[in-house]
Amino acid sequence: MTRQLVTSALPYINGIKHLGNLVGSMLPADVYSRYLRLRGEEVLFICATDEHGTPAELAAQEAGLPVAEFCAQQHDAQKAIYDGFGLSFDYFGRSSSPQNIEITQAIARQLQANGFIEERSIRQVYSNADRRFLPDRYIVGTCPYCGYDKARGDQCENCTRVLDPTDLVGPRSAISGSDDLEVRETRHLFLLQSKLAGEVEAWVDEHGRDWPVLASSIARKWLAEGLHDRSITRDLEWGVPVPADVWPELAAEGKVFYVWFDAPIEYIGATKEWSDAGNGDWKSWWYQADDTVRYTQFMAKDNVPFHAVMFPATQLGTRDAWKKVDYLKSFNWLNYYGGKFSTSQKRGVFTDAALGLLPADYWRYFLMANAPESDDTNFTWELFTSSVNKDLADTLGNFVNRVLSFSRKRFGDEVPAGREPGEPEQRLGALTAELLAEYEGQLDALQFRKAAQALRALWSAGNSYLEEKAPWLEVKADPEGAALTLRTAMNLIHLYAVVSEPFIPASSAAMRSAFALESDDRSWITADEARALALVPAGTPFTVPPVLFAKITDEDLAEYRTRFGGEPADAV
Ligand code: 2FM
Ligand code: ZN
Repeated sequence: MTRQLVTSALPYINGIKHLGNLVGSMLPADVYSRYLRLRGEEVLFICATDEHGTPAELAAQEAGLPVAEFCAQQHDAQKAIYDGFGLSFDYFGRSSSPQNIEITQAIARQLQANGFIEERSIRQVYSNADRRFLPDRYIVGTCPYCGYDKARGDQCENCTRVLDPTDLVGPRSAISGSDDLEVRETRHLFLLQSKLAGEVEAWVDEHGRDWPVLASSIARKWLAEGLHDRSITRDLEWGVPVPADVWPELAAEGKVFYVWFDAPIEYIGATKEWSDAGNGDWKSWWYQADDTVRYTQFMAKDNVPFHAVMFPATQLGTRDAWKKVDYLKSFNWLNYYGGKFSTSQKRGVFTDAALGLLPADYWRYFLMANAPESDDTNFTWELFTSSVNKDLADTLGNFVNRVLSFSRKRFGDEVPAGREPGEPEQRLGALTAELLAEYEGQLDALQFRKAAQALRALWSAGNSYLEEKAPWLEVKADPEGAALTLRTAMNLIHLYAVVSEPFIPASSAAMRSAFALESDDRSWITADEARALALVPAGTPFTVPPVLFAKITDEDLAEYRTRFGGEPADAV
């Protein structure tokens, strides 16, 4: 049996995430983890809040809270939302945990001992008014190339030229607006990635072969541009301190590691948090892990370089046997009416608002069925409404309700027996097996949109069968035949409950609990199982669950559009 390590990119702490963030990492990681668990595999699904860096400090400042307190609050707020979405993390940690600090420092020590870290002096912009060094993107000014007056120190948004803050004309602080800036000398640690470039490339050649094109092409592009030495420390208050035993002077100056250095290490750190909370052994997953551990990462495309190149470089440089990623699943963007979801401009649908509006399964299904896998995809209220109404309410919910209510009315509270299956049931069985095989294959391949299509086709097959047999007519002339039809349809409901669970866990639980089955076997139903449509025997007591999915009305739709601004980006 394989042991499956699954991690989702760590959501940044500075604010509540939007639906695009959810579908680009945490949600697909959850669907996959749930699927693997159903298949009987041992799964460890890890996530955490990514808590360090300038944006966290600034968000705390804006909230008027000490940064540690701000992060603690935001961690709890995000965690409550992810619980609401049914994300089944085995552990949801914090990158500011003592475990992460310990492991990050240990890794830095090893890199130093192996000659991959060097101390260098650099010149950086310091803002006297803000009393801090300014990261490049927090310096704004006029672009020397196109004259755009809000160009950032790292790049001009207008002409897309990559800039150095010293290129800007009339530079000022993006935080306070102050132009009282000076260039100061400051010492930092650099990770000598150039020394590791060959090894990283060989590693990507060997391990990146089977990654999705999106991930492997981004990795190749970065490697082709050359792996440069990178500063891995910052002059910030909040972060993993540089260990004083190795760098006493830098530690005394209060240097901390750069957020992108300690964030991926938190995948390991959070596993240790999980371990220390009285669960399994973290080392068996990460350190000298045997070949039975398969490690899958989920992230949006902007995170790929850090995971495909830089984190492996860090791991390789330790010369220690850290588990490295086997499969890197990456996503494009989910857009909102053709424009960007934007946290800073509050454009789009945020996860807290979504949950306040409709149950998690509606979002989970829509997002995964439209996951931006091969391309960017679009969220519009119209698409969302039609997907919920057609697929969830009409195809699945209506089937479940119709079958169970009608059977109860005609045959009482137990699954009726009826006669032996005939030709239509054999056809249905064959089609079901075929669709199940397709569904399973797509999930194994982490092709979520195609998996959702196969699932929808399975639900439709039930509707076609029901239309063909029309038990509401059959019952008059041939009650035994109608009973067979209903028993078969109830077995489909049970099958749907089992296999839909990764996408819509709460609704699946409701479908499942309709039947008072003797065994509580929760394992996957495989395509080659002739039993697929015979697991709920005649005589099983059942209840009719409340309506599974309420339709979104035209009035609801109009209200959502008004409230959230459902219009193309440039019209806003
Ligand atoms: O892009 C982001 O939101 C980052 N917080 C992702 C970090 S992933 C991992 F490396 F921690
Ligand atoms: Zn410009």
